[in-house]
Parts: sequence; structure tokens; C-alpha cells
Amino acid sequence: MISQSFIQDLLNRVDIVDVIERDVPLKKAGANYTACCPFHSEKTPSFTVTPTKQFYHCFGCGAHGSAIGFMMEYGGLSFVEAVKDLAARVGMQMPVQESELRPGIPDPGSQFRSSEGSLRKTKNSFQDLLEAMNIAAQFYREQLKHSKSAIAYLKKRGLTGETAVRFGIGYAPSGWQSLEEAFPDFAGKSPTSPLVEAGLVIESDDGKRYDRFRDRIMFPILNLKGMIVGFGGRVLEHGEPKYLNSPETPLFEKGRELYNLFAARRAIREAGRVIVVEGYMDVVALSQHGIEYVVAALGTATTPYHVQKLLRQTDNVVFCFDGDNAGRKAAWRALEDTLAQLVDGKNVGFLFLPEGEDPDSYVRNFGKEAFEGLLKQTLPLSIFLFRELSARVDLSTSEGRAKLVQDAKPLLARVAAPGLALMLLKRLAEISGATQNELEGLLKIRRVSSYPSRERVERAPRPQPASPYRWLMQILLYDPSYIRKMERDLLTEGREYPEEMAVLTALVEFIDSHPHLAENTAIPSAITYFHDSPHRTLLQKAESETLMWDSDIDLEAEFAGALARLREMKRKQRMTKLHNKSLSALTPEEKLELQRLAVP
Ligand code: UTP
Ligand code: MN
Repeated sequence: MISQSFIQDLLNRVDIVDVIERDVPLKKAGANYTACCPFHSEKTPSFTVTPTKQFYHCFGCGAHGSAIGFMMEYGGLSFVEAVKDLAARVGMQMPVQESELRPGIPDPGSQFRSSEGSLRKTKNSFQDLLEAMNIAAQFYREQLKHSKSAIAYLKKRGLTGETAVRFGIGYAPSGWQSLEEAFPDFAGKSPTSPLVEAGLVIESDDGKRYDRFRDRIMFPILNLKGMIVGFGGRVLEHGEPKYLNSPETPLFEKGRELYNLFAARRAIREAGRVIVVEGYMDVVALSQHGIEYVVAALGTATTPYHVQKLLRQTDNVVFCFDGDNAGRKAAWRALEDTLAQLVDGKNVGFLFLPEGEDPDSYVRNFGKEAFEGLLKQTLPLSIFLFRELSARVDLSTSEGRAKLVQDAKPLLARVAAPGLALMLLKRLAEISGATQNELEGLLKIRRVSSYPSRERVERAPRPQPASPYRWLMQILLYDPSYIRKMERDLLTEGREYPEEMAVLTALVEFIDSHPHLAENTAIPSAITYFHDSPHRTLLQKAESETLMWDSDIDLEAEFAGALARLREMKRKQRMTKLHNKSLSALTPEEKLELQRLAVP
């Protein structure tokens, strides 16, 4: 949707140091800048920003990316949002999409995008998809007014009309083509209807289109900017599935969004806390009863990303679960996702409702005061943690206490917040009867921040990668002008390092199709273009390895060395292949070749 040349211009225009400095104070260290990593908790800085290469890398937790990547990770933005934000900062106009999408002009970068990614070449712009969502939401709201059964259902569940309006609740009628019939212009606008791409209309293999949501109560899902990015749809009465959610689209990533977070921001700030419940109806009911600082995950378990997002909004997060077994299991999963995200000074708690109640039924049965009274029984994470662990063992025996320590070990190792880690250790000491010192020895808890520091790594002789492909990747990422000397005929498949070979090939093709990259030695991180490609991880590793290169590195020698290693590998591969044929099956040419190959 956004052309690569625009992204290139943008990355040339912004300085990653400025971008990061706004949120994270950076300290100059040689040619680079360092800070304590904003993505995990640490005491000694292992987060590095390189102005020449315009990327950041954390040696502790592996966080890595360009200015765009930072905006996405730190700011919780989507790729497109991050690009927009950055563009606005440097006063660049987002390009008109049409010119990028003219049919017949091949798009050289298209092979690097996964089919799901936001850079995917689509017929529709981000704006088109948002428009589709808005139009659909309006249509559903309108339909609700005319559906007696839907209104009756909502009434039966105790919802007022005012609440329905406030949450933008609607109704998807039972027809199969209601949306397209209501908006024929919009539906037929382009070869891929925005309704299809937005996940509202399903296109079957034989080209038939039908509405995803039929005869359902519709809950619009807003992102943090207040844009409708998805829907949840509930059946009236009974049916499977009870809730149907929008699929993942360029607009909507389930693991990142939280229902009602946009509307609740102010209430969360005022209350100084947020309650995380399981269902849409829980959110709506609590809100109607005056408890507005409430959000829900969207048909997925809570993710670490959710926790991070919430802890950015407030210091107190309360997870609210049903009192049954399923609720306890879900709570435990949330606890596991939370440990690594915790920062000292923030509190995460767990509230269990009486069996048979969910927040919706509880607040309707007993009212706001009763629910807020329950909140006082919220278990702090540390209490919940040890209560669960203790319940699994017999604390009256040495064996039981030893198991408790063993069970606690992997969990404590995840806690990056130093204060909390210490308190948990003390508590474990109390329960287990061991001293804190004994436990520290026993657990050998190694903090993420005790990773080798940059200085130490740098002084060691630089290890060369085992794979020559990886070595060439590093060189090309460091200085893409080496593309001119690249020997492409060496890029053939073989037994060794097939993955690295594929990634290097992709990188070479990418630089080939963007000749301006080779013109410039100080290019912004090329990995930006691979942000949603399966190759990203390997490229990130290769790129971060170049951070340890001294500025006086002899690139010529490196490049020659890498090529020589690759040539030698290919020679051996070819020989093995020929040797595997029987002598009589070899052509005269192949026999000659074998003779030549035998002399390295
Ligand atoms: P619940 O079934 O507990 O939801 O599922 P609820 O809100 O209490 O449902 P009702 O309307 O009162 O009966 C909790 C959440 O799990 C997701 C939805 O996000 C739902 O709100 N879910 C549940 C699904 O995505 N699909 C399903 O089939 C069921
Ligand atoms: Mn319910």
C-alpha cells in the first residue's frame, strides 16, 4: 500500500536518534548511542542505536528495528500508522496510492511480502478499508433499529438503548448478501472489494461473495485512535460459534487490540486502574453500571502485548476471571504473560468471581457497589503466584518444598523488575524454609541484563559466521554497494544452510531491484522492507552482528573471504553430486569437470 521509495525517502529524512530520544534518553557511546532497553528491564544498558545504519538493537532481549520498527514496538502502532506518524513529523505527504498501483507495472519488491502483511499489494488503501468498516458499522446500527428480535434480545440482556448507542452496537441481518446489496457501488469498486479485504464479506473459491456476519449482534472494535478496525458478532440466543470475530486484516491484529480501550482511556486514568474481563458483554454491562475503566481481549487469551499496552495506560491492572477451573487456568496464563512485562511500581492483580457468575451477571444481580467491593479482594500477583504453586505440592514435606522451589524457578527467572524479583525471592524463602542466599545459589537466576556487554563482545576476536551466506548477508546489509561484486551464480541451492541461502538470495534480489540502495553506503536499515517477511528474523540477526564490527573493518577482505568460502562450498557440493553418479553415467563434459574440480 505504501511504496518502498516513499519509505526509503522517509527513512532518509528522519533520524532514528531523534525518534528514540523522544521516549528514551540516549547516551553517546563512541559512534553509537546506548540506553537501558525500553523493551525489557535492566540496570546496565544493552540497548544500542546506530546513527550511521539507522537501526536499534538490544543485546539483552534482541529487540531490533528501524525508526519505523521503534514506533511500532514502543508506540504500539501498526506499520502504516508508524509510517504516517513519522511522515507527519518531517512534513512529508503520504503519496497518492493510485500511482503505485497502476496495473501492468511490475512491482519488484512484491516477492518480499508475505500474503498477510500490511505492505501487501492490494487494490485497496488503508483508507478504503476504514471506510468499509465505517459504512458497515453504520449499516448494522441502522439495521438494529428495524430488527424486533435483536432489540428484544438486547433488552432481555438488560441493555439500555443508550448503552447500545454508546457502544455503537448494531445488528447484521440474516441475508447472505445484505452488505453488498446495501452498498453496490462500494462493493463493485475494484477487483477486490474493500468489503472482502476488510473481512466483512467472504469470497469463496468460485468467486461467490457472502456476508461473514449474519443474524448477529454486532460490536464494533476500535483501535487506540478510535478507528473501527474489526467487529465481534454474537448470535441471538443459541448457535455456534457464539461469537464470531473479524479475521486478521491489514487493519486488525487480534492479539494487539483490546475491546473498549479507546473509550475507556479517560475512565482508566481517573480511576487509576483498569479491569480486564473476558467478554464483550461483560464490558458493556459493567460500563452501563458505571464501571467504565474496563476492557476485554478479543476472543484470544491475553497476550504479553496486551499487558504492555495496559501498563502504559495505568499502574494498576486487575484481571477478572470466572471462579471456575477454566477461569483459574486463564488467570495463570495471564500471569505467565505478565511476569516479563512487570516494572517496579506497577501492580497486576487477579480477581476471581464467585462460581457461576461473570462480571455481566454479577453487576446486574448485585450492582456497582458490590462489584467494587469485590475488587478489594483482588489478589496481588505475588500472592496468586505462590498460592497456586503451593496448592500443587505438600508443603509439610521436604520433597514438597523442594518441588515448590523447582516450580518457581522458571517463573522467577522471567521477572525482570528487580524489586519484585527480590520480594518474590524473599517470599519463596519464607514458604520453602530456605534462606535467600541458599535460594539464589539453587536457582542460579540469571537476569537478562547480565548478558555480555557490548564492550566485552567487541574486544573478543570477531567470530566469522559458519555459513558463507550469512557472512555475505552481513556485508550487504552493512554496505549494499558490494552488490556489484556479488557472484550470483554461486547462489544455488545445496545441502548446507538452505535457509540462509534463501534469505541471501532474497536480499540480493531486493537490492538488485532497488538500485538506489547500492548508491548509498549509509542506508537506513534494509530490514524495514522485510518487516513482515519470514526472512526477517535471520536478517535481523545478521544485521545486529554487524554492530560489533569496528569502523576500520576491512570490508574488501571480508567480502573476498566470504566469496572464497562460498566458492569452496559449492565446489565440494558439485563434486559430491558428480561422485554420486556412477562413472558410466557421467558425460564426457562431466568427467572433465570432475577433473577440474578435484584441484581446488
Ligand atoms: P463468553 O462466552 O464468556 O462471553 O466468552 P460472554 O461475553 O460472557 O458471552 P455472553 O454473551 O454473556 O454469553 C468470552 C469472550 O470470548 C470470546 C468473545 O470475545 C467473548 O466475549 N468468544 C467466546 C469468542 O470469540 N468466540 C466464542 O464462540 C465464544
Ligand atoms: Mn456472559
